[in-house]
Amino acid sequence: MKTAKLIIILFSLLLLDTYKVYAHGWMAPESDAKKENPIKINEKSINNGKKLFENFCSSCHGPEATGIKKEITGLNIDTPNLPARLKTHTDGDFHWKILNGRNQMPSFKEELSENEIWHIINYIRVLIKK
Ligand code: HEC
Repeated sequence: MKTAKLIIILFSLLLLDTYKVYAHGWMAPESDAKKENPIKINEKSINNGKKLFENFCSSCHGPEATGIKKEITGLNIDTPNLPARLKTHTDGDFHWKILNGRNQMPSFKEELSENEIWHIINYIRVLIKK
């Protein structure tokens, strides 16, 4: 009897945790979100990131990364406005999401190196200020 109760409690906690993640949107695990961008924002990094963004990301997120309506991309949802999102997310959070993907956001583990992803994030940081 006690074991059954314990299982129910543990299961409820698990459900609550899953719910929290969905209610707050998509979040990287804390240890990844805390990772600092090891690459300085300078002209070279920004140009690098811009080129990579145009090749790998702009078809879904738009040339300025501000997102595209689903009617145009044919995806299930409008793509998010990345500079707007990055205002409230860490570089580490974005890095993890780009590396791993979710739903129709592809994982870029195979296509991009970790450093290339940091360059792209530097480029998105610059777009915030525009
Ligand atoms: C095939 C279309 C597609 C491509 C290509 C794509 N994305 Fe996405 N991206 C999406 C979709 C759809 C979402 C929303 C996923 C969700 O919330 O389930 C998303 C979400 C994201 C997020 C999460 C934002 C947040 O915090 O909610 C980031 C960051 C991101 N994309 C960056 C990129 C970068 C950088 C590239 C290029 C390396 C890229 N994406 C390429 C479709 C795409």
